[in-house]
Amino acid sequence: MSSNSARECYVYITLPGKTVAVTAGKFVLDETSSGDPLGRFVYGQSYLKNPDAVPIDPMELKLAATTYNTVQLKGVFGALRDAGPDYWGRRVIEKYAGKPTMGEMDYLLESPDDRAGALGFGLNNVPPAPLRKFNKTLDLAKLQELADALIKDEIPSDPAAPQVQELLLLGTSMGGARPKAVVQDDEGLWMAKFNQPDDRWNHARVEYAMLRLARQCGINVSESRVETVGGKDVLLVKRFDRAKTAEGYTRARMISGLTVLRSDETKDARTRWSYLILVEELRRIVAEPEKDARELFRRICFNALSSNLDDHPRNHALIARNLDWALSPAYDLTPSPVVSLDHRDLALVCGDQGRFANAKNILSQHARFLLQKDEAERIIEDTREQVGHWYDTVRACGVTATDAETVRGAFLYPGFSYSAS
Ligand SMILES: Nc1ncnc2c1ncn2[C@@H]1O[C@H](COP(=O)(O)OP(=O)(O)OP(=O)(O)O)[C@@H](O)[C@H]1O
Ligand SMILES: [Mg+2]
Repeated sequence: MSSNSARECYVYITLPGKTVAVTAGKFVLDETSSGDPLGRFVYGQSYLKNPDAVPIDPMELKLAATTYNTVQLKGVFGALRDAGPDYWGRRVIEKYAGKPTMGEMDYLLESPDDRAGALGFGLNNVPPAPLRKFNKTLDLAKLQELADALIKDEIPSDPAAPQVQELLLLGTSMGGARPKAVVQDDEGLWMAKFNQPDDRWNHARVEYAMLRLARQCGINVSESRVETVGGKDVLLVKRFDRAKTAEGYTRARMISGLTVLRSDETKDARTRWSYLILVEELRRIVAEPEKDARELFRRICFNALSSNLDDHPRNHALIARNLDWALSPAYDLTPSPVVSLDHRDLALVCGDQGRFANAKNILSQHARFLLQKDEAERIIEDTREQVGHWYDTVRACGVTATDAETVRGAFLYPGFSYSAS
């Protein structure tokens, strides 16, 4: 039974290899008798009969004729939360809708169809036609202007104002806090990340360089490039959850590391922010556990050696382009040139000494990553050697000498190599 305040929506999914969505089930956001959010999800009968049906979450929402309940995460199942907007997208939606306080269901329903992963939401029991019109990369200058105006709070509050209407062009339901939009060119869909006026360095260039450096370390990353519009650099990262076909876009299912860890951003839930838990869970889900566990280990080494300390669980994801799940390509790599030379912490626990970004600590739990000690040591050494070339890489990627000096302190910080505990 639902209470009066219950709200519901249909959940759509684009099945593997398909370009048109079908209805997977219904999500109801209700309240418990004590007034706390209670989420319910039930798969539709016809979906369960569909021989191609796949679960929308490989851990919690298995294909079954049952009602799933959750009181975690404000009642929003992790896989659904991952398909909703985050800080940036919520900011756009709030401005567009003219309401500063919106509920979780509003964010799902108001966010556009450029969301990460294969899910969609709506009030009709049949999904809308797939979105065919995305922004063109040619529109980047316009999008950059809009993002700037939103950040500087220069957009009027009147929902009828033309600039407010245009915000939908930004209209991203992709997660994250930095300004971004989704654009399309002949090759497919890209996520455009804009610089912000108060950035200490050219983020677009530096992130581009970090993706290149990660690739040099043997890490799987998406294709990316920098476009300069109106004198400003914009980073374009190819969407790894979309593939262009003659019929439209196929979509990969996607769940964030936060969902894999069954966690959220609250203080209590942060006790589960751990690479050691992440690798254990990942090994249960992915088709190639050894490959992905090794890859995750390499990413931890890279993050520690380049002080990518904002490696929080939403900056990791699993994707399923077909039936099989795998670690997604790495994304959102940013150096943090923090002051401390002795001790830096990753966002997740990575060994016996907690979050300490240190070789000995990272090595301490090598077996969980299905690595022999000598293999793990070799990965650490290889990564250290490659990250040692950071300066040449960032300069080759067009980072200025001044910006390179600003981020210098992020690379190979001394505490990484300390061996005393
Ligand atoms: N290449 C990609 N293809 C598909 N989805 C992506 C890609 N890169 C990032 N994403 C998704 O978009 C979200 C936002 O991207 P990203 O983390 O780069 O943004 P951000 O604003 O810098 O994030 P943060 O708030 O962590 O700084 C990610 O959490 C991930 O779900
Ligand atoms: Mg991010």
